Amino acid sequence: MQAINFAARRKRLMQWMGENSIAILPAASEKVRSRDVNYHFRQDSDFWYLTGFNEPEAVVVLIPGRKHGEFILFNREKDELHETWHGKRLGQDAAMDELGADDAFPITDIDDILPGLMEGRERIYFELGVNPDFDQQILEWRNQLSNAQNKSNTRPGEMIDLKHHLHEMRLIKTQAEVQRIRFAANVSAKAHKALMKACKPGKNEQDMEAELQYHYALNGCRFAAYPSIVAAGDNANILHYIENSDEMHDGDLLLTDAGCEFENYASDISRTIPINGRYSKEQAQLYDICLAAQLAAIEMVKPGNHWNDIHDKAVEVIIQGLIDLKILKGSLKDNLTKESYKEFYMHKTGHWLGLDVHDVGDYQLHGQSRLLEAGMVLTVEPGIYIAKKNKRVAKKWRGIGIRIEDDVLVTKNGFDVLSKAVPKERALIEALMQ
Ligand code: GLY
Ligand code: MN
Ligand code: MN
Repeated sequence: MQAINFAARRKRLMQWMGENSIAILPAASEKVRSRDVNYHFRQDSDFWYLTGFNEPEAVVVLIPGRKHGEFILFNREKDELHETWHGKRLGQDAAMDELGADDAFPITDIDDILPGLMEGRERIYFELGVNPDFDQQILEWRNQLSNAQNKSNTRPGEMIDLKHHLHEMRLIKTQAEVQRIRFAANVSAKAHKALMKACKPGKNEQDMEAELQYHYALNGCRFAAYPSIVAAGDNANILHYIENSDEMHDGDLLLTDAGCEFENYASDISRTIPINGRYSKEQAQLYDICLAAQLAAIEMVKPGNHWNDIHDKAVEVIIQGLIDLKILKGSLKDNLTKESYKEFYMHKTGHWLGLDVHDVGDYQLHGQSRLLEAGMVLTVEPGIYIAKKNKRVAKKWRGIGIRIEDDVLVTKNGFDVLSKAVPKERALIEALMQ
């Protein structure tokens, strides 16, 4: 796998920032799960993108054109006692050797040092509004500078939001990034296939979640990119069902929406399988509409098409399919205008995918759905949901929820489905489950 070139990212960002500026970004904080137990630490994606550094209590500072070094890191000091109890810390020397920082200082010294680094710079770039306490802190450092020296011309006059530009950089993936998403998708594929083989009536949804977790970890991906959705029967009609605690019944479907992450890059895959290994007639009819919608939507993924084209195509195929089954009445056009399909398909057909499962980057530019470009990675995930409580639909359709989701790279000429290793044709799924 190619190494990620963090230095190249910093350089590109600093070229855009221009001289006389400074960017300041904090690491993620530890979060309490209960009393003195924390959740697993997950680095802030933007901070990781620019540093590859995986500790809390850190701040990265970028100062384009600074003679004594452009990349400055504030991080925790080495501490033998603390490291014996809680794990290793990189410290300042290794931050320079391993991360390529030009300078590294103890985080406890930041109040003394950072105002000096701002001095004489015209613009401060930071992520406005993400962390209000940190926004306040930046203002205090800036004010401290002018108070101490009583020379207001030495303190930066402009505060500029960094998010938009940084997120546009993150939207277009390099080969090294695609390799990581593809790796995560392949590991998730193994887990989904193991789940399909293990699935049978009488087991519990959480047994299936255990299959996922086990196969993620066994194949090099310890963490899920988001809480797994393992939804049997009518639970599939709760879009983000994560209780995963019900028994799985003969004759129902199981919707699994789950993906692991690799080096913080996410995968995000959904499959809908028959718990007893055979789709019923009604399940099969709805499943085939959903699959046809997904395949047609994926065909829309190519440079020059608009983001919206993917969703519009999926909606069109789903509406026509539901009209054919007499679940929707009227014409395709009527249903589009009245949006009556939203009773059965209420979410969008996908999202960007990367360091965050719902990754960053605008979906619209200048008020228009943006054009797809090579290097973008997105999900294509149409669904059809007919809740048990939906009395407007014939009984035979109720309690069926289906979603089929893949991770798709926009290539120069079209698309590459990164998660293609998980079967999605009915016959292939049934064969695997025998
Ligand atoms: N796993 C959440 C989603 O598919 O967007
Ligand atoms: Mn998903
Ligand atoms: Mn998704």
